[in-house]
Amino acid sequence: MPTLLDKRFVIVAGKGGVGRTTVAAALASAAARRGKRVLLAQTKSKERLSRLLGGPRVLSEVVRVRDRLWAVNMTPEAALREYGLMVLHSSLVYGWVFENKFAKAFIRAIPGVEDYSLLGKVWFHTTETEGGRPKYDLVILDGPATGHVLTLLQIPQAILDAVPEGPLTRDARSARELLTDPERSAMALVTLAEDMPVNETIELAEQARARIGVPLGPLIVNQLYPPRFVSGPSARALDLLPETTGEGRLDPLLQRARIAQRRRALNDRYLERLRTALPLPQVQLPYLFAPDLGVEPLEELSRRLEAQLLQLPTGSG
Ligand SMILES: Nc1ncnc2c1ncn2[C@@H]1O[C@H](COP(=O)(O)OP(=O)(O)O)[C@@H](O)[C@H]1O
Ligand SMILES: [Mg+2]
Repeated sequence: MPTLLDKRFVIVAGKGGVGRTTVAAALASAAARRGKRVLLAQTKSKERLSRLLGGPRVLSEVVRVRDRLWAVNMTPEAALREYGLMVLHSSLVYGWVFENKFAKAFIRAIPGVEDYSLLGKVWFHTTETEGGRPKYDLVILDGPATGHVLTLLQIPQAILDAVPEGPLTRDARSARELLTDPERSAMALVTLAEDMPVNETIELAEQARARIGVPLGPLIVNQLYPPRFVSGPSARALDLLPETTGEGRLDPLLQRARIAQRRRALNDRYLERLRTALPLPQVQLPYLFAPDLGVEPLEELSRRLEAQLLQLPTGSG
């Protein structure tokens, strides 16, 4: 079974704010470094990839970020236009249908049409070829947060359930086949080792299995505090020291050490809970104390991610 870096389509999912975009960028960078041609596709995201990857601004058109790495920030309007063009095979007909004021209002009102166009576009990118081979070896979807990503990924099945056999069902069938193929696809779950993200991740994993059948990749536990003062001499020393010493320079240090100790202890508790409730291979990424994550911290996360992915037992994510 290929590792996450050798798949065709990886969905990076998780609760809002846990680091999906950061991890997706780190993964994209790692795969490109290993010689893959990678497309990182975001959905309606705040533009941050230029900061994380050091390339051009990433807007609604696919842009080359560096060697073997491209990115796009998909908007429903652009995706709908592109996907509409592909389905209708003519910009004339497209203009007539999609740019018409009344038709446009009508199309926008179709339930799920925005999600449909976003998923259609990202799926289409997995099928693009150039010179007789896939244009991208790996397409990474920096997905929307938990609830929305489930809706998005259920679209192919929803189409197959609702629409009679035709051009739409053909694409929907290939998209569903891709999504459920453990050789080609995986959903990587990003979480923090904290109460709410862990509960939400466990729920997301269950729903993704039951409602979509997407193979679950490794669990990526992000922003772990360093394991300082948790065991060994430093922990014993901290335990022996009084809560306050009255020593002006020592007390702030003690206070910080105790905060670090408590945070890591909390992390350890939730790592344990994840191991029992969601027995997937785990990748652990540290909390990086950088005011604003830029290229260098991102590369550090990327290398740690890569090293751990390559260590995972074969047969898992
Ligand atoms: N490992 C990390 N260390 C430090 N800060 C991080 C780390 N991962 C993410 N962050 C920060 O956390 C915030 C949320 O990350 P982001 O990737 O935008 O999450 P999401 O895409 O899930 O909303 C950002 O400010 C990001 O810089
Ligand atoms: Mg994001």
